Amino acid sequence: MNTELRSHGWFGRKDKDGIIYRSWMKNQGMPNDWFDGRPVIGICNTFSELTPCNAHFRDHAEMVKRGVIEAGGFPVEFPIMSLGETLLKPTAMLFRNLASMDAEESIRGNPIDGVVLLTGCDKTTPSTVMGAASVGLPTIVVPGGPMLNGKYRGQDIGSGTHVWKFDEDMKLGKMSQEDCEFAESCMSRSIGHCMTMGTASTMACMVESLGLTLSGAAAIPAADSRKKQMAQLSGRRIVEMVKENLTIDKILTREAFENAIKVNAAVGGSSNFIIHLCAIAGRIGVELNLEDFDAIGSKIPLLLNLMPSGKYLMEDFYYAGGLPVILNELKDHLHKNVVTVTGKNHHENISGNTTCYNADVITTYDNPIIEEAGCVVVKGNLALNGAVIKPSAASPALMKHRGRAVVFNSIEDYHERIDSPDLDIDETCVMVLKYVGPVGYPGMPEVGNMALPKKLLEKGVTDMVRISDGRMSGTAYGTVVLHVSPESAIGGNLALVENGDMIELDVPGRKLHLDVSDEELAKRRNNWQQPAPAATRGYVSLYIKHVMGADKGADMDFLLGSSGSTVTRDSH
Ligand code: FES
Ligand code: MG
Repeated sequence: MNTELRSHGWFGRKDKDGIIYRSWMKNQGMPNDWFDGRPVIGICNTFSELTPCNAHFRDHAEMVKRGVIEAGGFPVEFPIMSLGETLLKPTAMLFRNLASMDAEESIRGNPIDGVVLLTGCDKTTPSTVMGAASVGLPTIVVPGGPMLNGKYRGQDIGSGTHVWKFDEDMKLGKMSQEDCEFAESCMSRSIGHCMTMGTASTMACMVESLGLTLSGAAAIPAADSRKKQMAQLSGRRIVEMVKENLTIDKILTREAFENAIKVNAAVGGSSNFIIHLCAIAGRIGVELNLEDFDAIGSKIPLLLNLMPSGKYLMEDFYYAGGLPVILNELKDHLHKNVVTVTGKNHHENISGNTTCYNADVITTYDNPIIEEAGCVVVKGNLALNGAVIKPSAASPALMKHRGRAVVFNSIEDYHERIDSPDLDIDETCVMVLKYVGPVGYPGMPEVGNMALPKKLLEKGVTDMVRISDGRMSGTAYGTVVLHVSPESAIGGNLALVENGDMIELDVPGRKLHLDVSDEELAKRRNNWQQPAPAATRGYVSLYIKHVMGADKGADMDFLLGSSGSTVTRDSH
């Protein structure tokens, strides 16, 4: 009997508590020899019918169990709060930290020796990884996989990305309600998460590049039977990881984070990557700041031709060879002194598996789609702690722009006035949205990519500079400055912008400047009134009291770091 495993502290006991720990589990039909000291593997399932992107995870959990049993482990599946991007109000991001706490405490409090995270929709990946990082057991991620390509009347359509297009077409009278409802079914025609390089696909690539998945896991479509194989193989592998004591902190090193930043640039990943990677780094105790993303990633070229930056979708990425091909193209730029869940580095994992089968989908490092693709960090009096922009989704002509501010004080204010013929706005203006940060909204929703005014769309305008302290969906595009920090609701200078102020965005110079004197700003600050807190009780109240800025990953201050896996006191 292996007395080293933490589960032994439950199931290996010869006292009254041992009876309680084993006996109640046996009501599920588990035979006595399953309590003989074999590794107990927790399968953290973010299944929910309210998270359509993860609604197929019962299948995946069964496949993982198959692998765990094959390898001589004892699988136990447990649910945690599932965050669905599409339905949850006011934004799934508000609850990422709550779900991470759920994952952390569920893992620590139970007789689990290693954990498999079943992740899919945007927040289900960072929340579970954050929770697992704060415990520190051997951990493997099984990404749930993207949907098959959307197919609409002979055209490939992408989740999210085409929503903005359809919305614009409806506004311009180019698309009927009936056609739109048909297109909805064509877009989401299989199980899986968004199949553009939105945040879910970005998170899948993030965990693979961090070394938390088996090689090639990220791009496999949910509906492809090889996804189930991947789940089963992951079940086998986690048992070995427990035996090898390959804990998550050995994988999530500074070098692994640097690799992930480079890969994210090469795949054209979502700007949300920054916020989630910062939060994970905070849990595992790796020093990572906003400037690192720019310094490490911004010069990396774009190699993957996927919407919203490009043309194809995740299914095409998989058939072209998936993330191993990208890792191979980047091999001279990635750290080799890392270890992944296999116990080997990426280089060793992908050897013999690096052929690109479609050069239009994945380009070479020497002949990329865009020379410098990573997210850029801009700073200045409008964002003293920084703001981010994703140049690969933006318009080159707006990378250096000076324009007159048109200010919206809330998203409701924006909706009310944006299409009014009287709104004083033209294509040179800079749209500013306040109070959509972590504290302000609360929860920092994906509203930063404000749709353009109807009258400018009719004129054929396709992009304008937009600035906010919110986020943008990874499936969206445009010259959108996001995550302005400090946010307006806590008195960041964004709160002080007035209609008519001139704003300068200089992406090459990394500047975001509000052309208003310090004296004037001080005067405005004296007259500024902080909005009332969004809640005075419950989780939301706790969140707004403790959430840190977007530049720190918007985690809560008391969640930084790890509490380890030891629980000293018994429950009976
Ligand atoms: Fe779930 Fe896009 S809405 S992944
Ligand atoms: Mg999203």
